[in-house]
Amino acid sequence: MNNQWWKRAVVYQIYPQSFKDSDGDGIGDLPGIIEKLDYLAELGIDVLWICPIFRSPMVDNGYDVADYRSVDPMFGSDRDLDELIAAAKDRGIKIVLDLVLNHCSDQHEWFRRALNDPDSEEAGYFYFRRTEDGRPPNNWRSNFGGSAWARTDDGRWYLHTFAREQPDLNWENPELRRELYDMINWWLDKGVGGFRIDAITFIKKDLSFASGDAENGALYPIENFQSYPGIGEFLVEMKRETFAKYDAVTVAEAPGVSPELFAEYAGPDGHFSMIFDFNWDHMKGVSVKGDPESVAAWRSRIFESVLHTQEHGWSAIFLENHDQARCPDKFLDKDKHGRDGMACLATTYMLLRGTPFIYQGQELGMTNGMRSGIGEFQDVSALNQWEEGLAQGRSEEEMLRELNNYGRDNARSPFQWNAETHAGFTTGTPWMPVHPAYREVNAKKLQADGSSILAYYKELIAFRKSEEWSDVLAFGSFEPALTEYASLIAYRRTFEGRRLLVLNNYGGELELPLEGREVVFDSFAGRGSSGAAEEMLKMPPYRSVVLAETE
Ligand code: NOJ
Repeated sequence: MNNQWWKRAVVYQIYPQSFKDSDGDGIGDLPGIIEKLDYLAELGIDVLWICPIFRSPMVDNGYDVADYRSVDPMFGSDRDLDELIAAAKDRGIKIVLDLVLNHCSDQHEWFRRALNDPDSEEAGYFYFRRTEDGRPPNNWRSNFGGSAWARTDDGRWYLHTFAREQPDLNWENPELRRELYDMINWWLDKGVGGFRIDAITFIKKDLSFASGDAENGALYPIENFQSYPGIGEFLVEMKRETFAKYDAVTVAEAPGVSPELFAEYAGPDGHFSMIFDFNWDHMKGVSVKGDPESVAAWRSRIFESVLHTQEHGWSAIFLENHDQARCPDKFLDKDKHGRDGMACLATTYMLLRGTPFIYQGQELGMTNGMRSGIGEFQDVSALNQWEEGLAQGRSEEEMLRELNNYGRDNARSPFQWNAETHAGFTTGTPWMPVHPAYREVNAKKLQADGSSILAYYKELIAFRKSEEWSDVLAFGSFEPALTEYASLIAYRRTFEGRRLLVLNNYGGELELPLEGREVVFDSFAGRGSSGAAEEMLKMPPYRSVVLAETE
């Protein structure tokens, strides 16, 4: 079980629009990623997950795919992608592409043919319905707000779990499935390391298409159908026909998988290598801001989830991605956004059992931006939610606050490379403005500072992958520790008789007996005053320490 390469890997996620622009059009591209591969190799990562780079009208920034087999010219050429795969390989880095299988774009030729001819083969690739009363077939609500049905010019309705420009693919259709499997194998033959698989729990529908229970004419969230019974048949078939034939890693975005189903999805013989753990990293709600209760509550969620996954399989662990707010804003008080708070968050999750994912800019400590009106938002989901919120009588102030705190645009502002114009991201006009903090928070500045959060991420990754400790950190069992301290997130990792105790202090200063344990990693290393004393370990706020224990 322990020979799967991805269990030791650290993954870095790139949002290509916002990573590095090489040609001055204001949009990040593949040559830009190639240019920065040395930066990524130096960080110590093993895998690059690149959000969709396929031909797309970009209504949902590439999650609306118009051609699964070619690179959108905005990002470069097909040859650039081949070059990226090869150049990454030279540095020991694998490329993971984003597979969007629940839906495509309304500009995909399949959908266009389906629109032109209701009797075409492609019409069977989607869910089309006609209704007598001219109303949508049921009351399902799309994930991005509003009805999950959109009307065609000839009076048919088609289902879309996300935006109306993202028609859902009909997985019941064997020809459609064959098309998708051929495409997956085509990419695997090209040498990609694997896939992150988008929204996969939505591919099975309730074929009765009955309306859900909702009061007063409200819409019924389509997310209630995640992982609908019968989905397993599709997933078993897909794995057999594609991934299983290669040494590929598959990471599924699979929200809504119940604990009982976890093993089916991400167990040793599961549909995927791993699934993202959404249990302890909610978009809204949990935070560790200030008070001990909230730290303890977050801790319980993390512990509960890791205890569960270690029994049943493997998960991808993360604090940020392109759909989430930035982690300092989500988890820390504003005045604790400093390097120590961020280092504590990084240590807390990266030494857990699972494969850690880092989202671009997280290693710089990038934070949420503040937008003063809806005109400054670009995300299709934000725009839809705004309309829906106002229609429901919510105030503009409330909606703006919500989008500023939790909106997806927060994570999508351009990467901050240096203190020059547009943070060195582009020589043109960036597609989204850079965060105003870029003069202070940028890679160049942090690279020159040995005590920066960027330097810390490098040390932490190197520690996780060190010859001495990587077995324990990759394969070791997980066990909660010292839960009597409400503001301490502490756990043990044990492998073949070797044991590490990881301590992260989110509260006031603590003193803990060392009792012969040895400090092997320390976020405060080099700060004389808070180093390990002989018998007691001083834990000031936001210090993280790893101790080696003898059993
Ligand atoms: C999840 C992706 O992460 C998100 O960005 C996208 O909008 C939806 N799936 C729809 O593809």
